[in-house]
Amino acid sequence: MILKTILRPLMLTALMTCSCYGTPAAEPVADRSFEAGLGTFLLDGEPFVVKAAELHYPRIPRPYWDQRIKMCKALGMNTICLYTFWNAHEPRQDQFDFSGQNDLREFVKLCQENDMKVILRPGPYVCAEWEMGGLPWWLLRKKDIRLRQQDPFFMERVDKFQQAVASRVGDLTIADGGPIIMVQVENEYGSYGTDKPYISAIRDMLRKNFGDKVTMFQCDWSSNFLDNGLDDLVWTLNFGTGANIDQQFAPLKEQRPDSPLMCSEFWSGWFDKWGANHETRPAADMIAGIDEMLSKGISFSLYMTHGGTNWGHWAGANSPGFAPDVTSYDYDAPISESGQPTPKFRELRKTMEKYAGGRKLPPLPPLVKPVSVPAFEFTEVAPLWENLPESKKDAAIRTMEEYDQGFGSILYRTYLPELTSASMLTVSDPHDFAQVFVDGKYIGSLDRRNGEKELRLPPVAKGARLDILVEAMGRINFGRAIKDFKGITDNVTVTEDRDRHKFVCDLRNWEVFNIEDELPTYTAMNFRPVAEAEMTDGRLPRGVYRARFHVSRPSDTFLDFSTWGKGLVYVNGHPLGRIWEIGPQQTLYMPGCWLKKGENEILVFDIVGPRQARSQGFKEPVLDRLSLASPQLHRGEGDTLNLASFTPVLAGTFRPGNGWQEVRLDAPVRGRYVCIEALDAIDGKDVAAIAELYLLDENGERLSREPWTAVYADSEDVADGNRSADKVFDLQESTSWTTVAGVPFPHAIVIDLGGERNISGLQYLPRMESDAPGAIRNFRLYVSPVPFPL
Ligand code: GLA
Ligand code: CA
Repeated sequence: MILKTILRPLMLTALMTCSCYGTPAAEPVADRSFEAGLGTFLLDGEPFVVKAAELHYPRIPRPYWDQRIKMCKALGMNTICLYTFWNAHEPRQDQFDFSGQNDLREFVKLCQENDMKVILRPGPYVCAEWEMGGLPWWLLRKKDIRLRQQDPFFMERVDKFQQAVASRVGDLTIADGGPIIMVQVENEYGSYGTDKPYISAIRDMLRKNFGDKVTMFQCDWSSNFLDNGLDDLVWTLNFGTGANIDQQFAPLKEQRPDSPLMCSEFWSGWFDKWGANHETRPAADMIAGIDEMLSKGISFSLYMTHGGTNWGHWAGANSPGFAPDVTSYDYDAPISESGQPTPKFRELRKTMEKYAGGRKLPPLPPLVKPVSVPAFEFTEVAPLWENLPESKKDAAIRTMEEYDQGFGSILYRTYLPELTSASMLTVSDPHDFAQVFVDGKYIGSLDRRNGEKELRLPPVAKGARLDILVEAMGRINFGRAIKDFKGITDNVTVTEDRDRHKFVCDLRNWEVFNIEDELPTYTAMNFRPVAEAEMTDGRLPRGVYRARFHVSRPSDTFLDFSTWGKGLVYVNGHPLGRIWEIGPQQTLYMPGCWLKKGENEILVFDIVGPRQARSQGFKEPVLDRLSLASPQLHRGEGDTLNLASFTPVLAGTFRPGNGWQEVRLDAPVRGRYVCIEALDAIDGKDVAAIAELYLLDENGERLSREPWTAVYADSEDVADGNRSADKVFDLQESTSWTTVAGVPFPHAIVIDLGGERNISGLQYLPRMESDAPGAIRNFRLYVSPVPFPL
């Protein structure tokens, strides 16, 4: 058994294993079936409620797979729901990898050995806060590719990938005696577009590869599932903790009164982004939702039951805007990132036991006990500037993908014309974190999260050297922006104001250094003692740091990076993930199964430079410590919105309850700045909230929200979450702008549309929880070509 052989050297808390639950692998039986019956799923013809735990095998160290599956079983789950990440399985075109961490077949068989059913979600797109939503970056080498559409190259590659998946697990469907009960077609296409022919084509590919017998389904939101719903597929809905469940299923019941109901992603918590508060969701709300669903015979998959880790460079990023995800995918799930039962787990288990048909739930499997590792110093450094790879010359600037590079950083170098006065450098657009140097001196950084593109340059003589070091973070995994090229994606100019004339110089003739994020990039560098390195502005040099640390009894631990800048970490060759001093994540999960008794080697590539090159292992992770220069509020100190000189273009009243509402103007108006002033709330309290907001153009179509920024909100509840103003256009119905309790009405939010637009109406979604907390009653809408005075 994998668990025994691998965990034996680790410290185990000996929890009893009970022989009556050690169910052996089910023998393949002919004529097994799973299908949608009248109002319920049917397993071998009998009513069956799917209680699925979402787990992603590449996010869990392989030696721990079995332990995590057993934890889900102990929680009373009967199914494991999983995605396949195409980019992990085909890192380079036609080079497939289904081994080690990617051994899908082994994972599915392990589920079966544990008597768990499997729901397979082979994408091709999966979202999942994973790099590019699971799509391989090399698709972008075809610059004009249309992703998630019937682009011939895209479809040809999807077919190849799905054939590869089917060749591994196509014989493990329930009809063949395997554990796979359902296969998902695409993923939440409604939040991308409307394209039934494309969805049909993906369905047909899956049919071809998985045969006619397997039940296929598609998942979407209650507000948009009809856009792409195919008649011959089962429809399931996704929504999170706190949602009003009856309200969520109402439109589906109307369409298909006899369909079994399933929440295919019931979000247990939420994911974290760099520079934003750690996300949690109350255990009581999550459990109440599951209790309600089970009491009504509704199937569910708890996303995530155990989130795991975005190893290496696999974390994705959200959009609109650019919000890169942290390395931990703990998700505030019942089973923590390191496989521990949380209080949420223990509470949920009690509720699940009520629905276990009078039987006791299986016991918990043995747990790995996290340990601390004494502090250790990094003794060697390979400074980046002394260790640049070979460069290539390029007249025009190009993206990372055009250099056939998937991950890492690029240093772009050129030489400046004479700049007399202070000039403006414009980098269009740096993806994702650019640092600018003139003659080796650091000038400043451009952070895509904040839309930064411009930096002032000092006066320089002709021929001064300009270096732009651009680090790629995760490719966007959500919305239309998934076609997310890295490096510098357009051009670089210098603008000089001379005699009140603007001179713009398009910089050309680049020398390009491709710094691939691969272990050999770092190990091939020349190291020297850290003791000899000089500090600049309180930091050690940018570069790769190496240490050897001693472990007496290998076990899980959480390595501390709170004194480091920004970069990537490898231990014993395993990519642990990204670090960034801004937080909220300050430690990285270090699985004990990847440590050795005795000496272990750690490498950190820090592109900013550490303040101290040291670390230690903690028994607990630090996932919630933000360290930002300025708070993430959309209200400057002393700002108060003054609407006195403006006339509202609309004054109206929203109706109570959950769900979308639309309001139209008598005639379209034009403007760039939009203010919604909330005058009171439906529930009579002092809080206002908006989950999502769209504006309609002169034809009644939704305006694109890509260029939107939130410029003002009178109050934002960010004390223990992220209920800031930008959440009204983050494309997530489960997140909201919410004001702080105790701050009185009126409340106001101002959005910059990024340019003048015609506006004929608005669509508003209150929060999705029952009774829509913070739902607005009376409101006024203001539109202006110029900013509202503060
Ligand atoms: C959606 C997607 C998932 C994941 C969640 C948020 O439901 O289908 O892949 O991104 O949102 O965690
Ligand atoms: Ca939202």
